[in-house]
Order: sequence, then structure tokens, then C-alpha cells
Amino acid sequence: MSFLTKFFSGIRQRKQVRRYESGLHGARKAYLLDQDTPFAITEAFRNLKATLSVSVPRKENGEGVSLLMTSTFPEEGKTTVTVNLALMFAISNVRVALVDADIRKGRICKYFKQKAEPGLSDYLSGQAKYEDIIRSTEQNKNLFVICSGTQSPRPYELLESDAMKELSDRLKKEFDYIIYDTPPIKLVSDALAVLPVTDGTVLVTRYMQSYESDIKSSLDSIRFAKGNVLGMIVNDYYVPPKKMKKNQGHYYAYYESEGENTPRITD
Ligand SMILES: Nc1ncnc2c1ncn2[C@@H]1O[C@H](COP(=O)(O)OP(=O)(O)OP(=O)(O)O)[C@@H](O)[C@H]1O
Ligand SMILES: [Mg+2]
Repeated sequence: MSFLTKFFSGIRQRKQVRRYESGLHGARKAYLLDQDTPFAITEAFRNLKATLSVSVPRKENGEGVSLLMTSTFPEEGKTTVTVNLALMFAISNVRVALVDADIRKGRICKYFKQKAEPGLSDYLSGQAKYEDIIRSTEQNKNLFVICSGTQSPRPYELLESDAMKELSDRLKKEFDYIIYDTPPIKLVSDALAVLPVTDGTVLVTRYMQSYESDIKSSLDSIRFAKGNVLGMIVNDYYVPPKKMKKNQGHYYAYYESEGENTPRITD
């Protein structure tokens, strides 16, 4: 049984590596929480934000907390989760820097309709200044983004450079939370290069996409690199209506119909 799992996992991994390297993927949606987002989804992000705030308490010296988001394979929903988590933190009135550390295929700029360059890679290679890469967003006054920047042939080396440490030190002084989006850990090691400048790591996994052994191996890689694993997010989890806990749907419907008093996404 375990041999079979390993065999199929190997096939899937090779297929995903080929797909990732070819740069081929279907049309991606850039989904941002807004006033029309169903209550259950907004609430899930609010819950995630609250859980993470408790998992890594604010530091006594006033420095910001930094979080690394990664996954085992591509397209598990890292960027979707990371961007909306950052927005949820910003809504709760803390200053947030969202950093696109996926220098190979970063897409965060698309969520905010901004140009990818100049961005992180340009700063790390000495081609841009801090003031050129840190950008405010229309979505929330507390949310700032650093886009991925010009594609580079050596992303790992840029991410583990002293310039990255300097950038992280500055961001920690200026923001309450710094959230890094990174590429999938089973395909490239870039996330491990960012690990040393972060306080905690969250592994995003898409329901029915990765085998348990793959997830375990990702967690081992993070822990081996001395990363502090805060937990895992299961994205795109489908609960058949029949399996929903008794009254759960009813409660959500109740809150959704609250009108003016409903807790919603606001600036
Ligand atoms: N819970 C979800 N429900 C529906 N669609 C989703 C969900 N999560 C992600 N997606 C969609 O799946 C696609 C991939 O998501 P996303 O770009 O966030 O993944 P990723 O892990 O960042 O990918 P990559 O490894 O290539 O960076 C996007 O089109 C996104 O809109
Ligand atoms: Mg992504």
C-alpha cells in the first residue's frame, strides 16, 4: 500500500514539476475578499488571522512579526490565502507588508493591479531602492505590497543574501506583520532561503491534492531548516451539505441576514 502511494506520488510530482517549469497553467483568478464575499469565507479568514495572532505573539521590543506561507506543490492556493490573510490583518488595523518572494512566477501584483517591477528581486540585486518597491494599496490604508520584481536566473541566491536580511530588518521596524508568499517547497528551495528571516511558517495544502507522505516530507524540510511550523491550512475543502454539522448552515444564514450589523470586510 505504502509502495503504491509512493509510486503515484512520484508520478504526480514529476508531472507537476514539468508543468511548473513549463510555466503553463490555466487562467488564474485573483480573488480578493470584499463586501460581496459570502460570510462563511470572510469568517474563515478572520478565524485564521485570529489564530495566527495568538500563535506568534507580538514582540516586546515592538518589532513586527513575520510569517512565511508555502505549500508542497503548485496551485494549492498559497497566493490566494496569503493575499487575503494579509488583507484581513490590515482590516484589523495593524500595518502589514505583503512580500511576493516568488521571484520565479510571482502574481501578487495582479491582485492589486500593479506592475511586478521594480520589486523584491530588483531591490535584492541592488537595482532598486526600498522606496521604489514598497507600495501602498487602494484596498486598505494599512496594507503595503512588495511585488516580485524582474525575473532573475538566481532567485535562491537573491533570497538568501544579506540584502534580504537588511530588508527584513527594516520591514520589522516599520510594520506589525510581514507576510511572505513563496514557491512550492517540493519543487524549488526558495522558501527555505526566506525561512531564517521569519518567525513562523504556514503550510497551505489543497484538499485532495497532496499525499500525506508529501506533506510530511515538506514539514520535515521546514523543520530541518529550523523553521517554526505554526500549522497547516487545508484550502478548498468541500463539505457535502449532508455532512455539515446540524444547524451550521442555519447559523451562517442567520448572520448573513443581519444587514447593517453583520461583521463584514471594511476599510
Ligand atoms: N478555495 C479555492 N476555491 C476556488 N478556487 C481557488 C481556491 N483557492 C485557490 N483557487 C484558485 O486556484 C488557482 C491557484 O491558486 P493560487 O495561485 O493561489 O495557488 P498557488 O499555490 O499560489 O500557486 P503557485 O504554486 O503556482 O504559486 C487560482 O486560479 C485560484 O483562484
Ligand atoms: Mg502562488
